[in-house]
Amino acid sequence: MADAKPRNLRIVMFPFMAQGHIIPFVALALGLEKMMKNRAAKTIISLVNTPLNIPKLRSNLTHESSISLIELPFNSSAYGLPHEAENCDALPYSLVISLLEASKSLCEPFRDLMQKILKEEDDGKSSVMVIGDFFLGWIGKVCKEIGVATVMFSAAGAFGLGCYRSIWLSLPHQETKQDHFLLDDFPEAGEIEKTQLNSFMLEADGSDHWSVFMQKNIPGWSDYDGFLFNTVSEIDQMGLSYFRRITGVPVWSVGPVFHSLDKKTGSRTTEEAVKAWLDSKPDCSVVYVCFGSVNSISQTHMLELAMALESSEKNFIWVVRPPIGAEAKSEFDVKEYIPEGFEERITKSERGLMVKRWAPQVDILSHKATCVFLSHCGWNSILESLSHGVPLLGWPMAGEQFFNSILMEKHIGVSVEVARGKRCDIKCDEIVSKIKLVVEETDVGREIRKKAKDVKELVRRATEDSGSSIIGLEDFLGQAMVKKDKN
Ligand SMILES: *[C@@H]1O[C@H](CO)[C@@H](O)[C@H](O)[C@H]1NC(C)=O
Ligand SMILES: *[C@@H]1O[C@H](CO)[C@@H](O)[C@H](O)[C@H]1NC(C)=O
Repeated sequence: MADAKPRNLRIVMFPFMAQGHIIPFVALALGLEKMMKNRAAKTIISLVNTPLNIPKLRSNLTHESSISLIELPFNSSAYGLPHEAENCDALPYSLVISLLEASKSLCEPFRDLMQKILKEEDDGKSSVMVIGDFFLGWIGKVCKEIGVATVMFSAAGAFGLGCYRSIWLSLPHQETKQDHFLLDDFPEAGEIEKTQLNSFMLEADGSDHWSVFMQKNIPGWSDYDGFLFNTVSEIDQMGLSYFRRITGVPVWSVGPVFHSLDKKTGSRTTEEAVKAWLDSKPDCSVVYVCFGSVNSISQTHMLELAMALESSEKNFIWVVRPPIGAEAKSEFDVKEYIPEGFEERITKSERGLMVKRWAPQVDILSHKATCVFLSHCGWNSILESLSHGVPLLGWPMAGEQFFNSILMEKHIGVSVEVARGKRCDIKCDEIVSKIKLVVEETDVGREIRKKAKDVKELVRRATEDSGSSIIGLEDFLGQAMVKKDKN
């Protein structure tokens, strides 16, 4: 680079107010901090959020970290949200859109904040850079207006977000009577079926709240100067190429960024119980079932799944949350939702372990007894599974999870889809046959398990010295150090 003098770097990061966004942002912030540690340039990193999310962010940072937290004023009750609702995880699914809409009110306070920071850093030696979120599409415009470089960091994979973008912008399913369609600007993604659209997308007609929000938010992405993806180029090339093609700006893959702090959440007793239980099982014999920290399945689906796990005669760990409609219950009795006598039988036979709400996912995925992960296909869960060479049984439910499932099954070959969506008509027998297909010595099972091991290697190499994700991060930082001219 022509400019040999080390520049100081001021990075301001702003995740949307949902744990699935905040946690990868924290992980990225910690990764950037570590990478910049031994360099001549001084780096200051701040995370911005609303008041009630700040203590959560703080509890996710280590003591050694010098990352600072900045609070922006936010009044949830002014937007029809419950008092003190500042995080998606505190809301029923139907109110997520209200939080998205309300987040636009952060625009002015954010602009003021950035102007203040620009004044502080106006010493000719510092570069200021903003890392924003895909749900906060207005960040790009604000930064452009005040002359600050900005990139978007996606906690979702590039393939999944690419499909999501394309569908929201053109609502192709409204144009066809067929039950499947191709994406105009992303045909290489393959056919998408109507059953692979989340409920808001499926019902969207261009005038509903979700369409209106998305059709304003997504075009805002074109004001970003670059894109960082929490993904690995070796498995997500098609999506990364899509974003390069439609944006014309740099697109870096820098994942998986992981928070190694996961442990703090759960109780030690759960951790120890899970470990002891897994230690007693043969290699590659356990089906791990978890639908993430916010998703639930219906009560009907819970019954079918319970019967399937029992009659598959495989070992399993099932992380149970209350079914749809009862999600908000903080205390619940698992027995209310599963077949009578189920818990006693599986406990007695030591075939299954049911864990309420939270399990040490990384410990489970890294244990040699674990064979397959029956997952909602949230991107963080997928990355964790692939990092440990564990293949998937997909049951996507919401957001862009359906497209993640397509990527894993059709393009990478490490997954078999079990069911689709919250209202599908899935029966016990079908679940059993999918479980057996992957776990037993079938051709498909052998192939998928081997592929998962290969992908584990690819992911491992990407985050080693001179691996693709490290190069991505280095290259991004190199560009961030170049001061952006005001336009
Ligand atoms: C971050 O903090 C929140 C709230 O305090 C907690 O629920 C979550 O598990 C933490 N995550 C990590 C990775 O530490
Ligand atoms: C928040 O909004 C509500 C409803 O508009 C209003 O009554 C309340 O005074 C506001 N609170 C603050 C602190 O501005």
